[in-house]
Amino acid sequence: MKTLTIAVIAGDGVGTEVIPPGKRVLEAVGKKHNVTFAFQDFDWGAGHFARWGRMMPAGAIDLLQPCDAIYLGAVGHPQIPDHITLNGLLLPIRRAFDQYANVRPAYLYPGVESPLAGRRGGEIDLVIVRENTEGEYAQIGGFLYQHQREEVAIQTAVFTRRGIERVVRFAFDLAVKRNKKKRVTSITKSNAQGYSMVLWDRTFQEVASHYPDVETESLLVDAAAMNFIRRPQSFDVVVASNLFGDILSDLAAGIIGSMGLAASANLDPEHRFPSMFEPVHGSAPDIAGKGVVNPLAAILTGAMMLEHLEMQQAAQEVEAAVAAVLASGTMRTPDLGGNNSTEEVAAAVLEKLG
Ligand SMILES: NC(=O)c1ccc[n+]([C@@H]2O[C@H](COP(=O)([O-])OP(=O)(O)OC[C@H]3O[C@@H](n4cnc5c(N)ncnc54)[C@H](O)[C@@H]3O)[C@@H](O)[C@H]2O)c1
Repeated sequence: MKTLTIAVIAGDGVGTEVIPPGKRVLEAVGKKHNVTFAFQDFDWGAGHFARWGRMMPAGAIDLLQPCDAIYLGAVGHPQIPDHITLNGLLLPIRRAFDQYANVRPAYLYPGVESPLAGRRGGEIDLVIVRENTEGEYAQIGGFLYQHQREEVAIQTAVFTRRGIERVVRFAFDLAVKRNKKKRVTSITKSNAQGYSMVLWDRTFQEVASHYPDVETESLLVDAAAMNFIRRPQSFDVVVASNLFGDILSDLAAGIIGSMGLAASANLDPEHRFPSMFEPVHGSAPDIAGKGVVNPLAAILTGAMMLEHLEMQQAAQEVEAAVAAVLASGTMRTPDLGGNNSTEEVAAAVLEKLG
């Protein structure tokens, strides 16, 4: 029996409702594959902030470092400014562990209705690879004359050749590994952002030249947003900066039917540090505490964790169980038009897992 140590940060709001079913699914599939998960729960997030004035303790990174992976629900609370919750927990972890590839698949499952008319199951099948450690989220800048009439805010985006190159290379490798359309689309705004995004475009072309079998496309982010709606079936792997990847992944979640189906992984592809697995969605205060949040995004996120931990077969079994529940059309939370609870949907996945 192998043991994997997983740091768990359920976080806030619905994060605390989707992580327990996610853990149960991991335990169930682990048992079938002779793997035990030793979960180490950390109660960091808004509650920690209310008590201690910070989202996680000073030594948090040291506590996470020895773990095999990190499983996170969501952070965010209506009474705490979002820049504090994000910069106090998620972004420092992504940076400390150099989790430079944020991988966000968007798949239209058979049995789920897309808000786009006439789309069939399986027709939308793309993965967004978002640069995750620099770009527009580098958090460099400051205020001048703060809270005065002359107030000035400066926020600098940071793009490095190294940072762009490694995430673009990851995207090409993923297109090869997926072996589907073998197509990588790069998203920028290099018509308006004439330095950073021009460097991105140039680096993309250089990396692309090493992958002659992979088709490429470069789109401005505004055109990309339109084409996600108009021709979503044309995308395979989409690589974008931190901000653009973030925005487009909510759009991608929308066109596959629900935010409650969008999984995501913050990867250190070189396995030097623990990678972090979290659903795309936030703490969803509008539905928190009602027992109706869709747990499938968190469960599919668990499958991404299994894959990263080299448990490919187990990952496929979890995905197949989720697909079977969705295909049955009878068991779904309100975001997908049903009236089942979080617990009922999770139980259905566990039953399909066997
Ligand atoms: N990774 C993260 O921790 C993360 C990501 C995004 C937002 N946030 C934070 O979460 C808070 C709420 O942000 P928001 O409302 O913009 O985004 P959100 O993702 O929490 O919610 C957006 C909408 O989608 C719905 N939704 C989200 N996940 C769902 C699920 N699993 N099942 C059913 N419906 C679901 C919500 O009910 C809401 O109507 C904010 O504090 C924000 O900063 C955190």
